[in-house]
Amino acid sequence: MSTVLIEIRRAKSSDAAAVAETHDEAWRAAYQGVIPAIELEKLIMRRGPDWWDSAIRKGSRIAILAFGDKVAGYANYGRNRARSLFYDGEIYELYLRPEYQGLGFGRRLFTSARRDLAQSGLKSLVIWALADNEPAVEFYKALGGKAVARSSERFGERNLEKVAFAWNN
Ligand SMILES: CC(C)(COP(=O)(O)OP(=O)(O)OC[C@H]1O[C@@H](n2cnc3c(N)ncnc32)[C@H](O)[C@@H]1OP(=O)(O)O)[C@@H](O)C(=O)NCCC(=O)NCCS
Repeated sequence: MSTVLIEIRRAKSSDAAAVAETHDEAWRAAYQGVIPAIELEKLIMRRGPDWWDSAIRKGSRIAILAFGDKVAGYANYGRNRARSLFYDGEIYELYLRPEYQGLGFGRRLFTSARRDLAQSGLKSLVIWALADNEPAVEFYKALGGKAVARSSERFGERNLEKVAFAWNN
């Protein structure tokens, strides 16, 4: 029998390449056919190991879910960026590699990020998801998020709707 250690911890510089790979795999799986291919490629290329290394060194809050020695997923979060929304914190991104989805890890990462934000005084929380990203929308609803705002973002030729989900203290 073998035991695999599953832990959520702050990303270190030495995780940068694995986080970049996780980002690449998760974004391709989630957004192929949603975000135009050229735009998606650009978004992924911008986020290579150097980008993650620099974000980690700058002190951005990036948590990873480590499954043994593999990075299965990550969440990055901090202050809410949208001034028009009165929420303290924001989870900017929460992504799992496809093979780790549907196993309860998303909930664990979310709970950990929410707790970390609350511990630094950011008690209410918002997360944006593309409206076409149905699994994410269903996930945030299952976690008790309420749809509180809509917006849109342009990706090349395509304009995509976004939904903000919120949690109060
Ligand atoms: C969205 C994502 C983070 C969810 O994580 P996950 O580990 O797959 O979800 P969990 O297994 O923790 O599910 C938590 C709850 O959400 C529900 N849920 C998750 N995905 C769902 C779906 N597609 N449809 C309906 N419910 C869903 C689960 O049933 C579960 O409910 P329960 O705890 O009441 O039983 C993950 O699937 C992922 O990384 N997807 C691709 C990237 C992405 O879209 N990220 C979000 C960008 S905004």
